[in-house]
Amino acid sequence: MKTLIIYYSDSGSTKIMAKTLSMNLKADIIEIKDLKNRKGTVNKFLSSIDAFRESKTKISPEKIDLTSYDLIYVGTPTWANKPAPAIITLIDNCNWSGKDVILFTTMNNNGSDEPTLERLEEKVRMRGARVVERFSLNTKGKSAENIINDTERIIQTLVLKMYSGA
Ligand SMILES: Cc1cc2nc3c(=O)[nH]c(=O)nc-3n(C[C@H](O)[C@H](O)[C@H](O)COP(=O)(O)O)c2cc1C
Repeated sequence: MKTLIIYYSDSGSTKIMAKTLSMNLKADIIEIKDLKNRKGTVNKFLSSIDAFRESKTKISPEKIDLTSYDLIYVGTPTWANKPAPAIITLIDNCNWSGKDVILFTTMNNNGSDEPTLERLEEKVRMRGARVVERFSLNTKGKSAENIINDTERIIQTLVLKMYSGA
């Protein structure tokens, strides 16, 4: 069973989660870069609008060949209660047919993670994937160590090793 973790991260929290998952689950990992400038207050505001509208963005890599993977994790920060544009764009560029998918998001307020996970699920299912699990982490005020510990706890609680045979 070959597992791949695909993620986008702006300020590093989702990256820490993705790396912790990859190490614990012995999975390959690919970071999606958003080539649009997302730095600074104005760009952050515009980024929320992009996310809310599900605007596409320029990403690198533009697409990923998923052929050799059975299980794919997709991780994104929550922006305006939605997945980040880089992940929306990536999903639309890949062939998800017949793949098992696990979705995760990070956020930093007391709002719900559901709209982001729901939208991700809708998008990959439309493209033929089966969502087998999904989870989220509130990163507010958390150090890298906290995020690593929380992710390892999620791996245990949801028995994620079962899906990838790690
Ligand atoms: C443009 C923007 C919009 C955001 N919108 C939300 C939101 O709607 N709800 C929320 O809980 N957190 C929101 N956040 C906070 C991020 O989801 C949170 O800090 C996340 O852990 C960041 O992940 P990262 O470090 O991998 O980029 C937003 C952050 C940014 C930059």
